[in-house]
Amino acid sequence: MRPDLTLQAQPDAGAVARAAADHIAARVRARGNLTVLVATGSTPMATYAELARRVQAGTLDLSRVTAVQLDEYQGLSDPDPRSLWEWMDRSFVAPLRITRTVRFDPRAAPQDTCRDYDAAVAAIGGIDLAILGLGLNGHLGFNEPPSPADAPTRTVTLTPASLESNRVYWDTDVPTQALTAGMEVILAARSTLLLVTGASKRAALGRLLTGPPSPDFPASLLSGEAVTVLADRAALEGQGPAPVSAVRA
Ligand code: F6R
Repeated sequence: MRPDLTLQAQPDAGAVARAAADHIAARVRARGNLTVLVATGSTPMATYAELARRVQAGTLDLSRVTAVQLDEYQGLSDPDPRSLWEWMDRSFVAPLRITRTVRFDPRAAPQDTCRDYDAAVAAIGGIDLAILGLGLNGHLGFNEPPSPADAPTRTVTLTPASLESNRVYWDTDVPTQALTAGMEVILAARSTLLLVTGASKRAALGRLLTGPPSPDFPASLLSGEAVTVLADRAALEGQGPAPVSAVRA
């Protein structure tokens, strides 16, 4: 088990969502104008729904948060049902009543939108909190393996494995190219929540928790006290005993 990662074990995906929402709410209460890097995909949706429930109940105010897009398909028209921005808007920005956002501009040339994105992130002082999911091949955002720690914000060609896992979301073609926040943006986040739920993530989580850090499994480059891996029992099953100090249930 990697000693440089904090693993928080939870019984199920609902508990992961509540723990993640508690963590985010505590950060926002400590510092209202938080800048948050926002993954889409299935895993964080329950967390965003839990945050939305708290916002609607009036117990949480996220109005000073800036939401930063993590990744986007390249070459989509605007609007497009496959757009990750639209997914992020539906699941995070609108229900959480967030008004400040940084996104990849679908109308700009890829190198221009990457440059503008990095400039916008730098102008707001970088990322305070990254909310990430774990790709089956260890990708973070669309940083496909191999992605070194200094991989910049850029255009990437998606791997066959990622195309296959993305295919579940649409009947139509999956774009083969994407834009992603670079590993250097993600790894510079002042804190990170990596959400891992479900039996399908068992092998990937095992590699993250036990393998050596390597660009061949980009998520393994996350390290340090400010990184919390929130995983449910289904994903943790068979991982072997975690050191007691690393597990905060
Ligand atoms: C989505 C993203 C991806 C996903 C990853 C896990 O914006 O950046 O890296 O976080 O593919 O996806 P799910 O949560 O669907 O298993």
